[in-house]
Amino acid sequence: MKPPHILLVISGGIAAYKSLELIRRLRTMGYDVTPVMTKAAEEFVTPLSVSALAGRKVYQDLFDLTSEAEMGHIELSRSADLLVVAPASADLMAKMATGLANDLASTLLLATDTPVMIAPAMNVRMWTHPATQRNIKALKNDGIEFIGPAHGDMACGEHGPGRMTEPEEIASAIEQKLTALGAEKMLAGRHILVTSGPTHEPIDPVRYIANRSSGAQGSAIANALIAQGAEVTFITGPAEAPAPIGARIVEIQSAQEMHDAVHAALPVDAAIFAAAVADWRVKDAASEKIKKQAGESPSLTFTENPDILASVSALDEQRPPLVIGFAAETENVIENATAKRLRKGCDWIIANDVSPDTGIMGGHKNTVTVITDDGAVSWEKMSKKAVAARLAQDIAQHLQGCDDRD
Ligand code: C5P
Repeated sequence: MKPPHILLVISGGIAAYKSLELIRRLRTMGYDVTPVMTKAAEEFVTPLSVSALAGRKVYQDLFDLTSEAEMGHIELSRSADLLVVAPASADLMAKMATGLANDLASTLLLATDTPVMIAPAMNVRMWTHPATQRNIKALKNDGIEFIGPAHGDMACGEHGPGRMTEPEEIASAIEQKLTALGAEKMLAGRHILVTSGPTHEPIDPVRYIANRSSGAQGSAIANALIAQGAEVTFITGPAEAPAPIGARIVEIQSAQEMHDAVHAALPVDAAIFAAAVADWRVKDAASEKIKKQAGESPSLTFTENPDILASVSALDEQRPPLVIGFAAETENVIENATAKRLRKGCDWIIANDVSPDTGIMGGHKNTVTVITDDGAVSWEKMSKKAVAARLAQDIAQHLQGCDDRD
């Protein structure tokens, strides 16, 4: 079998030097990499070092007749299994968003129907500029998948979003994408909804009440479902974990907004409620910023939020065939979670012990017990990614079983 073939576009930016490490990693993973460089990229890395690492010619010029004779640009982009742009500069993203094709890189990106992933890298102000934000939206709408950018210190001395994701992480996102594209997909044709992250409950237009959920387990689950070919609607509060690549992402703030977004996303084949939804919201949140008054502190009255999981479990016609809830407990985990499953009316509950000494909250590992109609099964301690992969498999098997019974 031919190894997967990646067309890697390197655009200009200080992060271009990291593309060398990315090529090295991708080659070690057994992928063929054909590099393409923009003119600006050549200011940061030499075509010679790129070509040496890729073990192939670097394509640079649209009007390079030799390369056109070897392989036309249309063929060049179509022969790849995946197009990756790393780093993706603000300039190249703007070209992609508007469909400009005035050099080899932008022409290849316009001439392709192959999936495209981009790892943006730019100064924080360029990233947050409304023009770039508009372009990001347009690119996401076009189905371009984003890897990062990360938050952190920049070469220019500023701090914030815009740093290119580290090559190791880009390589693993690429691997996941290629696996999803090529593998036997157990969840192909299934639509699955995942809620994730915390919710922010407003006190006034500038203040809110939140919780410490990172969204890591929810993102991992969505990624695992996508890798198995599912179409995922990912409804998330403001989470710290990177959003899953390839999901339809619906960003919300409050529990009420999450509730509405979840119900609007139905029908689905399965719904997984991994979000840490606030139990209460401030009753009558102020529409103007509450002013500080000397000697006085405002008192807040709370009202209960809708229980999204319970509301979906109680549906009649629109009830997904499989509804999964989470139970984060600190004591009597199995007993409490078993009662919760019945109270909420869901099919499965994934229970975990989140006592501070377990390090689960915000950590990479998880120890879960899955409670179903048939009782409780405890899984050994594993990474959140491994929990997600196993859960995706179990979901696929369960849905297959439902189909077989029909
Ligand atoms: O009741 P508790 O918050 O412990 O239940 C946890 C489960 O219920 C999680 O799956 C969570 O996503 C879901 N939930 C919800 N809506 C709420 C509260 C919790 O969907 N308002």
